[in-house]
Amino acid sequence: MERLQSAIDKARARRKDDRPKGQAVPIAAQPHQLPESLTLDAWAGIPEFVPQPDVMRRNRVLTFAGGGESTPFDMLRTKVLQQMRANNWRRLAVTSPGGACGKTTVCANLAFSLARQSDIRTLMIDMDMRRPALARTLGIEREGLQFSKALEGRADPLVHMRRYGSNLAVGLCEAPIRAPSELLQSDTAHAVLNDLERRLDVSLTIFDMPPMLATDDVLAFVGNVDCVLLVAAAESTTTKEVDICERDLAAQTNVLGVVLNKCRYPENDHNYDYYE
Ligand SMILES: Nc1ncnc2c1ncn2[C@@H]1O[C@H](COP(=O)(O)OP(=O)(O)O)[C@@H](O)[C@H]1O
Ligand SMILES: [Mg+2]
Repeated sequence: MERLQSAIDKARARRKDDRPKGQAVPIAAQPHQLPESLTLDAWAGIPEFVPQPDVMRRNRVLTFAGGGESTPFDMLRTKVLQQMRANNWRRLAVTSPGGACGKTTVCANLAFSLARQSDIRTLMIDMDMRRPALARTLGIEREGLQFSKALEGRADPLVHMRRYGSNLAVGLCEAPIRAPSELLQSDTAHAVLNDLERRLDVSLTIFDMPPMLATDDVLAFVGNVDCVLLVAAAESTTTKEVDICERDLAAQTNVLGVVLNKCRYPENDHNYDYYE
């Protein structure tokens, strides 16, 4: 694991110098402030969902309950927030080289960690439309949610979303769709997302993306986000895969970092928790 980390660091240092100078960095559309009453109305129009603690725990969404187990994700949240705020970035994509590295788990944990900050309005959208899993991870099933219809301009986005509390909104797909890469790079999808962020006065949007190496879905969309987190699974993702993905992403957007997930033996040296 240490070897993987140090190889990643080296590759990243190498690439920093390769980056085209003066390359335009895409910044998500800045929401134009609507009257607060309209924003609150829009949030109120999203059906609320109340997560079941046992489902969240089983699906490893540890930031829902908070406490010591959520600390690594809270730290990740704070680092991501600091970098995004410093650069005025609003859109974060989470992807990985292959499948099942933990993208959806990382997204959900980041989102519930952010939800504990009442001054931040977070939007999270399942963009892995070949294998959507966010709804199931949150314990939402058979509600007919298909956010892809909203991205196609065929439905009101709020109908295909669920709200947790007053500051986390989630766009969900329960069934896979064909040809998502065409949808992901369509003008309609971009206009819908811009409009939704404006209506909800969103501070930060998290996109739960598909894996990078299997299809062109991520490359089709990633030019529309401000930054990306790459999730690697310890013991299955290879250094080469991380390197290829990081290089492709860095050509189009800002790579915030690589999250090493599924570590079997996490280092416990820095445990600092409060016990009653
Ligand atoms: N740190 C982890 N340790 C063990 N299992 C994990 C970890 N993170 C995620 N998983 C499990 O791995 C599976 C795939 O995770 P998921 O987040 O859906 O991956 P992806 O979105 O990359 O396909 C799920 O069953 C999830 O609960
Ligand atoms: Mg997923």
